[in-house]
Amino acid sequence: MCYKHELARYKGIVEEKLFAIVDGCGAPKDLKSAMRYSLEAGGKRLRPAMTLYVCEMLDGDIRRALPFACALEMIHTYSLIHDDLPCMDNDDYRRGMPSNHKVFGEANAVLAGDGLLSLAFDTMLAAIANNPCQGEIKAAQAVSEGAGVQGMVAGQVADLASEKSGARDMDTLRFIHVNKTGAMIRGSLLAGGCVAGADEEQLKALSDFGYAYGDLFQMTDDILDVEGSFESMGKTLGKDAQEGKLTYISLIGLEEAKKIAGRTAEKALAALEIFGEKAWLLRELTNATVSRKS
Ligand code: IPE
Ligand code: IPE
Ligand code: MG
Ligand code: MG
Ligand code: MG
Repeated sequence: MCYKHELARYKGIVEEKLFAIVDGCGAPKDLKSAMRYSLEAGGKRLRPAMTLYVCEMLDGDIRRALPFACALEMIHTYSLIHDDLPCMDNDDYRRGMPSNHKVFGEANAVLAGDGLLSLAFDTMLAAIANNPCQGEIKAAQAVSEGAGVQGMVAGQVADLASEKSGARDMDTLRFIHVNKTGAMIRGSLLAGGCVAGADEEQLKALSDFGYAYGDLFQMTDDILDVEGSFESMGKTLGKDAQEGKLTYISLIGLEEAKKIAGRTAEKALAALEIFGEKAWLLRELTNATVSRKS
C-alpha cells in the first residue's frame, strides 16, 4: 500500500469530523469565521493522521481516536496562528493564504487561537464523558502535555528567547526542537496508542520515535526555510535568518544540517523496531521526510 494514499484517507476522515465540530460549536459568527479560515486553509494533517494510524496499527478503534486527532489539529492550527503574529514570527502567509491576523486583525487572531485551543479541550472532555475510561483520559493527558507548559508552549518561548539572546549552542537548539515540535508529534502518537491500550514498552517506543521524528521534521522545516519554495511550503521563506533564529543551519550550516537529518531519521526508525512490519507507514513517512519539499 502507498503511504500517501493512506495519509490522504486519514486526512479525509479527520477533516470531515473537524469541520463538523467547528460548524456545530457555539462560537459567535465572526469568531467561528476566523477559526474556520485557518483550519480550512489547508495543512497536511500530519499529527491527526499519526493518531489514527497508531490506533489502527495497535488494533484500536479509530472512532475513539478521532476526537483526539481533531483536538490535536485544532491545537496545532492555533499554534500556527499565534506563531505568525507580529509579536512572534511576524509572517504574512500561512498554508498558502494570508495569515489569520492579516485577514481578521491581531486581536481576533489571538482570540481565534484561544477559541481553537479551548474547543480542543472541550472536544477531548466530551470524548471522556462519552466513554470514561483510562484510554481516553490518558490520551487527553498526552495531548495536554504535548501542547502545554512542558511542551510546545515552552518550546515557543525558548525559540523566541534565542532571537533576543543570540544563543548558538546545541543544548538550546535541542530544547527548542524537542519542545516546540517534538512534543506535539509525540502527543499525537501517544494519543493513538493510549486509546488502543498500548503497553508501557509500546508507549516508550512511540515517545522515542515522536521526539526523533519531531526533530527531523523541524530540521527539514528549517532547511526548507533556506531552499524551499513558497508554492510548496505556503509560507514566506528566508525568515529564520532574517529573524536571527537558532536553527541547525545557523549553528552548523546547511550541508551539516542535511547530514544530521539523515542520522536523525535513522534514530527515529530504530525506535520503531518493536512494532515490526506494522509500523510501515511511519517508516515510509520518516524516509520521505528527509527529502521533503512541503
Ligand atoms: C508547521 O507544521 C510548523 C512546524 C512544526 C514546522 P506543518 O508543516 O505540519 O504545517 P501544516 O499543518 O502542514 O500547515
Ligand atoms: C513553529 O516553528 C512551530 C510551532 C509550534 C508553531 P516555525 O516557526 O519554524 O514554523 P513555521 O516555519 O512558521 O511554520
Ligand atoms: Mg516560530
Ligand atoms: Mg514561524
Ligand atoms: Mg519554520
